[in-house]
Amino acid sequence: EEVTGGSLKQQLAKLFEESLRITVPEELDVDPAIAPCQNPKFATMPWACGQKLKGRAPFKGPQPIGQAIMKNLPASEMVDSCSIAGPGFVNVVLSRQWIAKSIQKMLVDGIETWAPKLPVKRAVVDFSSPNIAKEMHVGHLRSTIIGDTLARMLEYSNVEVLRRNHVGDWGTQFGMLIEYLFEKFPSGEVASDQAIEDLETFYKASKQRFDSDPAFKERAQRAVVSLQAGDEKYRKAWAHICEISRRGYEKVYQRLGVHLEEKGESFYNPYIPGALELLSKKGLIEESEGARVIFIEGKNIPLIVVKKDGGYNYASTDLAALWYRLNEEKAEWIIYVTDVGQREHFEMFFTAAKRAGWLPAEDNKYPKTSHVGFGLVLGEDGKRFRTRSTETVKLVDLLDEAKSKCKAALIERGKAKDWTEEDLEKTAEAVGYGAVKYADLKNNRTTNYTFSFDQMLNDKGNTAVYLLYAHARICSIIRKSGKDIEELKRTGTLDLVHPDERTLGLHLLQFAEVVEEACTNLLPNVLCEYLYNLSEDFTRFYTNCQVVGSAEETSRLLLCEATAVVMRKCFHLLGITPVYKI
Ligand code: ARG
Repeated sequence: EEVTGGSLKQQLAKLFEESLRITVPEELDVDPAIAPCQNPKFATMPWACGQKLKGRAPFKGPQPIGQAIMKNLPASEMVDSCSIAGPGFVNVVLSRQWIAKSIQKMLVDGIETWAPKLPVKRAVVDFSSPNIAKEMHVGHLRSTIIGDTLARMLEYSNVEVLRRNHVGDWGTQFGMLIEYLFEKFPSGEVASDQAIEDLETFYKASKQRFDSDPAFKERAQRAVVSLQAGDEKYRKAWAHICEISRRGYEKVYQRLGVHLEEKGESFYNPYIPGALELLSKKGLIEESEGARVIFIEGKNIPLIVVKKDGGYNYASTDLAALWYRLNEEKAEWIIYVTDVGQREHFEMFFTAAKRAGWLPAEDNKYPKTSHVGFGLVLGEDGKRFRTRSTETVKLVDLLDEAKSKCKAALIERGKAKDWTEEDLEKTAEAVGYGAVKYADLKNNRTTNYTFSFDQMLNDKGNTAVYLLYAHARICSIIRKSGKDIEELKRTGTLDLVHPDERTLGLHLLQFAEVVEEACTNLLPNVLCEYLYNLSEDFTRFYTNCQVVGSAEETSRLLLCEATAVVMRKCFHLLGITPVYKI
């Protein structure tokens, strides 16, 4: 029998489905509901098949149902034995040989063979998405980190991902920015980068000018019209401002190792009239107080799609972008990563799209849209995260600080003696940036989280530092054994004799279903929790089972290697660079 073919859960489900097909009358349509066994007493019986058939014909009570399901289970090398545990539950003891064989097969064929199967081929992940000339704040950092992880998990699951940076590069504020640019550089020659390097200050100054000088305000409003009409001079100034902004946030992406493709709001502007026309034809758009709006059931305020002055807005752009992503890009799943504060906006335009028939009404059908909302980043004082010097936190400074703190810690541990400067730099970067990412991802994203260097850079507890070091330690165990691990993968045999080996082995096998769950529910913290528990299971194994020099050395080195491989894949999916020595 093949050991591949979906996650452990999916493979077990297949067996139970087979049994249910012959055991239970078709019209009852029951689902095997495979889940890991919660009862620690059943440490060796980790899987249960719960049935809610409750004495329905042809069975009298739950016990006979379980017995029948057990009896009809097809023979499989996966299963060692089964037993009935409580009403309608069948506990399965997985075969030790099968667990070992599956892990060894992964070592030979690669972790890619453990990728879960998802029901979509192409997805859009709309993330990061800062606004031109405005500050890129920690909220955008969260969106960047969370969005990148989701994209990585989907990519690993063989989904084609369009990584979209939906930058705010359009709208009335550009009139004011352009007009201010012309005012500061009347000669017409476009400003040197230096002159508007600090775009935030530039933005604030132009805003102040806009608010205090009615003549300037009028010019700015005319500038918007010229820009939108495609006037060359205005387009150029706009492009220049965008370019300077872009260079700023590209720096952050480079540091974080995040790849994005920019398709800003301006890109969708030409598609707005067509999209609104389609919605209008469906009778969705109404006049209200001079604006054109869509009323959404259960909401007090309508979704404005054309403002009183005839201009388009955030919502009209998002409707056009959705139309484009569905029809031009043929995406089946469109995922938006922003703070929870925007939930209402997304709910409203998702509802409009459903009413227009662009999306199916049912949430479990594709194509589908999902809003991935996240909470605030708080400072240690419990307030919105800020530094003393500036109102907001400069992202690049934050990453610099994490890195330099890590470097100092490495030097303190005496690494400067035998490491090259490059080693120190590379490790400090991996650990520092990894710490910032992991501290964010390990929390359920919907909650606020407190930004604390002390916490995230602690080498004990659930931190990237601890996990990266744990991985490096495993690598050093393998190195110090002096064995050629590639050779062992092919010629050695993995076995799981000790209970702690078995627990670790089972945990490794659950990798695919954890990634599947993290993807399906868009919750990166599920993967973090898995990684942390993996490292705990490894520690228990390593404490209780001698590796190097034992009779089981080969098998145990292979188990070490499998743990390192899965840990590295977790790091990769979380956007963290692994380190190999400490
Ligand atoms: N630029 C927006 C902001 O900074 C986020 C855009 C999110 N994406 C979208 N399609 N609305 O809040």
